[in-house]
Amino acid sequence: MSEKYPFSKGLAGVPAAETVLSYIDGERGKLYYLGIPIEEWAESSTFEEVALALLLRRLPKREELKMFNAALRSARELPPEVVDFILDMPLDSHPMTVLRSVVSLLEAYDYDAKLDDLEAKFRISLRLIARFPTVVAYFDRARKGLELVPPDPTLGHAANFLYMLKGERPTDYEARVMDVALILHADHGMNASTFASMVVASTLSDMYSAITAGIGALKGPLHGGANERVLRMFREIDSPEKAEEYVLAKLARKERVMGFGHRVYKAYDPRARILKRYAEELTKRSEYYQIALKVEEVMIREKGQKGIFPNVDFYSGLVYNGLGIDTDLFTPIFAIARVAGWTAHVLEYLEDNRIFRPRAVYKGEIDKRYTPIDER
Ligand code: CMC
Repeated sequence: MSEKYPFSKGLAGVPAAETVLSYIDGERGKLYYLGIPIEEWAESSTFEEVALALLLRRLPKREELKMFNAALRSARELPPEVVDFILDMPLDSHPMTVLRSVVSLLEAYDYDAKLDDLEAKFRISLRLIARFPTVVAYFDRARKGLELVPPDPTLGHAANFLYMLKGERPTDYEARVMDVALILHADHGMNASTFASMVVASTLSDMYSAITAGIGALKGPLHGGANERVLRMFREIDSPEKAEEYVLAKLARKERVMGFGHRVYKAYDPRARILKRYAEELTKRSEYYQIALKVEEVMIREKGQKGIFPNVDFYSGLVYNGLGIDTDLFTPIFAIARVAGWTAHVLEYLEDNRIFRPRAVYKGEIDKRYTPIDER
């Protein structure tokens, strides 16, 4: 049937909301949070400051950031019943499955979830940001049969996550690398997981349901799940000498090379540029880094003119690998950062909410007769 509205597959190019939070200039390969280039955030800020700035939609004052930091640190621990639930999860569950399930469960233990006002939703946002690292680290320790390491309130968000994961304090350099990775992943316009969270929130459902939807969307290999696949691809390629043949064969089969391409960027993703520097520092002499360089070279040669370049997921896995983190934790780390963006977008949208309710182009017939089951 003809529709009076234009149709764009995958909603490509269709604005779904207004925001002041982040802006991508896809042609020039630029990303801004609150108008400030991502390079400046990565150079001068912390993940905690980025998260609060996104929630407030402005740079926080010193006192505000101090209070936010203290509140995050005191909100990190999980209700004991939720810890038991994590310990009971099948050991071979993907950490994203655990994160999604636990975030859904947390609603039942949060009185604020019963309240409708934006202040309660702000408090929940803070709690979610504080607790994502705890959920991921607890499950990782539990599945390895290791003692859980409770959060350390003397450590910042990134350092504490690494500490809970490994049971020892990270070096300042390791903590800074993780902090920058979290800053770079905190927000990214109207991406699929942010949109998923906003769609759920727009029905005036609760914050936990909205964020659970975001985690589910991020898990997919076309979105946040790509970083894990990139490292698996490096493993499959095995040596830099085999990289070119591998990429060309993949392209000949019309398959996607993970960690490349983007709906909005038609230039080099600025986040990938920053992560590549850290990947080089951490893994310069490793086979994986050499494989990555070769894959990038061949992909840009073959696909650069079509605007396909490395995206954030191409080098992030190498960075996490260089920090000694398991491959299936890469996407959960993306979630640990992006929960700041999800919650900020939901709060922004709810200030002037309208339910998301697009249309489908109906391709079937109409006015058909119902055939009784025996006559079909
Ligand atoms: N490898 C090979 N060809 C590609 C790739 C790729 N990674 N990405 C896009 N193309 C080609 C695609 O085959 C198509 O070619 P043609 O016009 O000849 O059919 C053209 O580029 C346009 O692709 P598209 O699928 O229409 O682009 P999209 O905007 O719908 O998809 C994407 C964007 C990110 C899903 C896609 O680029 C992709 O699948 N990339 C690999 C997965 C990945 O790295 N995802 C992480 C994205 S960045 C972090 C995040 O947001 O989560």
